Amino acid sequence: MKRGKDYIVFALDVSSEYEAEKYVKMLNGKVGMFKIGLELFIKMGPDIIRRVKNLTDAGIFLDLKLHDISETVKRAMEQIAQLGVDLVTVHSSSSQKMLEMAVKGADKSSEERRVSQSNLYTDAGFSKNMAGRVGVLGVTLLTDHDASVIESCGFKDIYVQDIQSLVMKRAEMAYSAGCRGVVCSGQEVQLIKAKFGKEFLAVTPGIRPLWSIDKGDDQKRITTPSMAVKAGADLIVVGRPIKRAEDPTLAAEKIADEIERLKI
Ligand code: C5P
Repeated sequence: MKRGKDYIVFALDVSSEYEAEKYVKMLNGKVGMFKIGLELFIKMGPDIIRRVKNLTDAGIFLDLKLHDISETVKRAMEQIAQLGVDLVTVHSSSSQKMLEMAVKGADKSSEERRVSQSNLYTDAGFSKNMAGRVGVLGVTLLTDHDASVIESCGFKDIYVQDIQSLVMKRAEMAYSAGCRGVVCSGQEVQLIKAKFGKEFLAVTPGIRPLWSIDKGDDQKRITTPSMAVKAGADLIVVGRPIKRAEDPTLAAEKIADEIERLKI
């Protein structure tokens, strides 16, 4: 059965191997996945994946948010699919073709790699036939974007006034391209699940437990862990609320507990 901790993806937003290993050791068994983002990947290179995997059985989410011409993204995906990660991100704000080519590249190499075991827990919304494959997630709209950012980027009024319609448009592109799911704020999870179904993953960043809310936060479209999971999120991405806590292990436990309570 999926437990509260299995929903948590800890964002390893650090710039050294020492710090990464410190958090992985500290949070091993307390979270379901570790997310390696641009900062750590650029600093350490792909070897960091092997190092993290040596320390934990948790899943690995490589958050590179690719966005380039379709052929380049496909070729990058062919390489990523050989790294043994479970999830990877591309921007849905590009073209439908780019998303399709991302999936094609990931599937091609995953098929060749065809490892028998995967870190993915199968009752977490991932199907068994995904074992050994890297799931491509389309990033719909960054959670630090609000209407003013959309407006300043020159989007049509309809999207400025209704951000959700932009998120849904991008989710539709990701779904049609064969992505495993999307990254979206907790505010859109319910709509996405209702439209694209249970198997289409909703991964939600911008998570702020009530005890961590800070007025100067850069994240705009935030939700609490329980709000996101209640809305249907399969995974919640949590960085600073755990990282900046006095006791990160306790913070992760509190989040897991908050989710567990939804079952009562
Ligand atoms: O520290 P915090 O909990 O805000 O961390 C959020 C993490 O989620 C960061 O690693 C960030 O890159 C990632 N993310 C996000 N918004 C998205 C996609 C990913 O904040 N739409």
